[in-house]
Amino acid sequence: MPELQSSWLLAELEPTVTRNLDRHLAAAKDWMPHEYVPWSRGRDFADLGGQAWSIEQSTLSPIARTALEVNLLTEDNLPSYHREVERAFGRDTAWGTWVNRWTAEEGRHAFCIRDYLLVTRGVDPDELERARMQTMQTGFDSGDKPLLHVCAYVSFQELATRISHRNTGRYTEDPIAEQLLARVAMDENLHMIFYRNLVSAALDLAPNETTRAIADEVVGFEMPGSIIPGFARKAVQIAKAGIYDLRIHHDEVVMPLIRQWGVLELEGLDAEGERARSELADFLDTLDAQATRFVEQREEAAAKKAARTPT
Ligand SMILES: [Fe+2]
Ligand SMILES: [Fe+2]
Repeated sequence: MPELQSSWLLAELEPTVTRNLDRHLAAAKDWMPHEYVPWSRGRDFADLGGQAWSIEQSTLSPIARTALEVNLLTEDNLPSYHREVERAFGRDTAWGTWVNRWTAEEGRHAFCIRDYLLVTRGVDPDELERARMQTMQTGFDSGDKPLLHVCAYVSFQELATRISHRNTGRYTEDPIAEQLLARVAMDENLHMIFYRNLVSAALDLAPNETTRAIADEVVGFEMPGSIIPGFARKAVQIAKAGIYDLRIHHDEVVMPLIRQWGVLELEGLDAEGERARSELADFLDTLDAQATRFVEQREEAAAKKAARTPT
């Protein structure tokens, strides 16, 4: 499959970007991140004569702490994501307008989650800062993905982030954190819709190449936070807690988009497009089976733990 010229794709998809940018601007509500932070709970840390952080000050459970920290560090890496989308979408026309608008909206996600965690003393601020420095210095690099791959990836990633924020909020059992993360998740949802509509238009325009991009991005999907220190271990804890696991990834992130796009039912694909679709279908079966096995193992482990716990 010869790679499509990205300049051709950018020009052909520009009317879709313009339409969806307008739709997004009409749908997005301005919201004030400071209104979601319980400032009255804040106080000085040690260097200003206050109290240093210690673990008993946090009312969050260890897993809630981990999930919030992973979500925050993921959001912190916005300069890397901005670089990625700007490289693929450019600075001109509605594409460039979207890149800047999207970046501005994403910017407040890290601010308000960090403010919440600092005033509530939810996590170790020194450790958080060291992890932020390390994460941002590592950066996020997709390896110069072609335009259609970027569009497919960000569709899945925005939806994954939406689910992850929403479920983390619920898991904290703090109504303030839940409200804050639900608000952030609403932004991610609108971002997902923008990219999802772009991929739909790309499927009409270049069905074979877009099917290939979707297949590659589903098969190779990695969370943007995968470069966070200790991510693999933290992701396991987050999965065991049911905040974000393979079952959720399959049922609530991958399949809704695959269905919405109608990828598995597309007609008129050429041999290359068919090959991509069959790779995708095979992978979805594997993912579903892995998700079932993961949930079974989690339930078995929970049953064993319950049996060991004296009543
Ligand atoms: Fe975000
Ligand atoms: Fe987003």
